[in-house]
Amino acid sequence: MHHKPVRKAVFPVAGLGTRFLPATKAMPKEMLTVVDRPVIQHVVDEAREAGIEHLIFVTGRNKSAIEDYFDRQPELEQALAERGRTHELKLLADVLPQAGSASFTRQQDPLGLGHAVWCARELVGDEPFALLLPDMITQSPGKRCLAQMLDVYNQTGGNVIAVEETTPEDAHKFGIVATGAGKDPVWPITGMVEKPPKGTAPSNLYIMGRYILQPEIFSLLSRMEKGAGGEIQITDAMVHLMGQQPFNAVRHQGRTFDCGAKIGFLTANVAFGLARADLGPELKVELAKLI
Ligand code: G1P
Repeated sequence: MHHKPVRKAVFPVAGLGTRFLPATKAMPKEMLTVVDRPVIQHVVDEAREAGIEHLIFVTGRNKSAIEDYFDRQPELEQALAERGRTHELKLLADVLPQAGSASFTRQQDPLGLGHAVWCARELVGDEPFALLLPDMITQSPGKRCLAQMLDVYNQTGGNVIAVEETTPEDAHKFGIVATGAGKDPVWPITGMVEKPPKGTAPSNLYIMGRYILQPEIFSLLSRMEKGAGGEIQITDAMVHLMGQQPFNAVRHQGRTFDCGAKIGFLTANVAFGLARADLGPELKVELAKLI
């Protein structure tokens, strides 16, 4: 069966980044670097590798560095050209989105993740879309998370959510899914709860920040219902949509680093550094000296 293609991806990048102060005092947290690319570039790479054509950023005040980052820098390009720095010029060209393929809109008030996604409704229009939370960066030996999910979506259609295993101690920090009978790595979702109080999580499968959603989610978000933490939650809108459309969970085959937390961010730098042919061997030696 043919399912409507997923061409667009939404990146909610309006968060304040208070956990990284003072680094994020004058710079968006999404611009912090993991090795030599901003965190947001790692997430955009995952989307582009999965064939996404249009990038939609939901930004906020003081986030203009992100917009500048995805634009050309003619003076820099000219200086590099004059110096014959073809390698660096190619690096810049590789990360530049095609003209017209990146859109920016602002979330005017921090009312929650669901509200941020709702702000993208006109840019997404009436088609399925991917949602990638930019704090979470993924690493896998083969296809990355969104591409794994699209393989499933092309079979199942509907809505697809990537999950990973967490521990009972950590489950209250996430959205948690309940699943019915399926075959690893895909299970039908039978329930979802955002930040379940300790001891009440319906499973150990947490939502790790990658979604494929149908556009009907927007009318449910427009109800502006407040959920966990008094915020408008994407998870709550998905629970409503679950009554009308299928949702499947896909176990992400790879690792996810929560770059919104210091430990995840530091670990990501080490993991992505070790994976690099030009840095890995030397970094390994340096790490051994430290530990
Ligand atoms: C959001 C989602 C949550 C998900 C988490 C993953 O929460 O609401 O369901 O598990 O991202 O990072 P947040 O981290 O924004 O509180």
